[in-house]
Amino acid sequence: MNTREIVEKCLEKSDSRFDLWINLVESLQVKAMAEVGVYKGDFAYQLLQKCGSIEKYYMVDPWRHLEDWKKPANKNDNTFEQFFLEVKEKTSFAAEKRVILRGKTTEVADQIPHESLDFAYIDGDHTLKGITIDLIRLFDKIKVGGWIAGDDFSRSIWQHTPNYEPTLIFPFAVYFAEAVGAKIYALPYSQFLMEKSETDSFSFVDLTGKYNNLELKSQLNPLEIFKIKMMDLASFVKSK
Ligand SMILES: C[S@@+](CC[C@H](N)C(=O)[O-])C[C@H]1O[C@@H](n2cnc3c(N)ncnc32)[C@H](O)[C@@H]1O
Repeated sequence: MNTREIVEKCLEKSDSRFDLWINLVESLQVKAMAEVGVYKGDFAYQLLQKCGSIEKYYMVDPWRHLEDWKKPANKNDNTFEQFFLEVKEKTSFAAEKRVILRGKTTEVADQIPHESLDFAYIDGDHTLKGITIDLIRLFDKIKVGGWIAGDDFSRSIWQHTPNYEPTLIFPFAVYFAEAVGAKIYALPYSQFLMEKSETDSFSFVDLTGKYNNLELKSQLNPLEIFKIKMMDLASFVKSK
């Protein structure tokens, strides 16, 4: 089966983000992976519990307040210290598989060997700066034939209130895929999956029907922002 067939099969039997990645990571037989942005470790816990194929799991997160990160998940140092302890406790059953890299992507990614990963899940700093850094720093770590994926592939860049920085996973990840010649899939639950290949295989496969416009201009127009928000709300209600 090729990646698209595997993805479609996994989508049929998944009804949440966690379910989807558990099914995909297991079906793709991922052995070495990284998660960028671990927070309280809920995603890591689920994958390490349920995906028997995983042998090595890098956890990248600073677990500290970041002065220049304007997102709601940016808590104070004490809260992050609690989260860090929680992650260590929660994933202690897989202590021999996990490699904890405490730091920002730019501070610790060098500790992951070149082309050593089957899979990376990007869920850290979702701003334009963050996704640019994460995709560029992690892509080299992926084996040819491996995958890089992520959360918050939000159709609207206005994911939170205007007090926060916009979320630019979409459309930036699509532009990045074109730059490196990779195929990229838009998946339900605001997820994306990119496949690294030897030859230029860029295409954008939208399996949701929502990502019809790759331009930024429309996302700056109030009427378009309203339409996208309504579309997001409708799919959220449908998924309940
Ligand atoms: C949305 S949470 C991750 C949720 C987690 N992946 C899950 O599904 O349970 C975002 C995390 O990204 C981390 N983060 C923010 N900026 C980062 C950076 N520059 N490098 C690595 N991690 C970062 C934050 O500390 C936070 O824990």
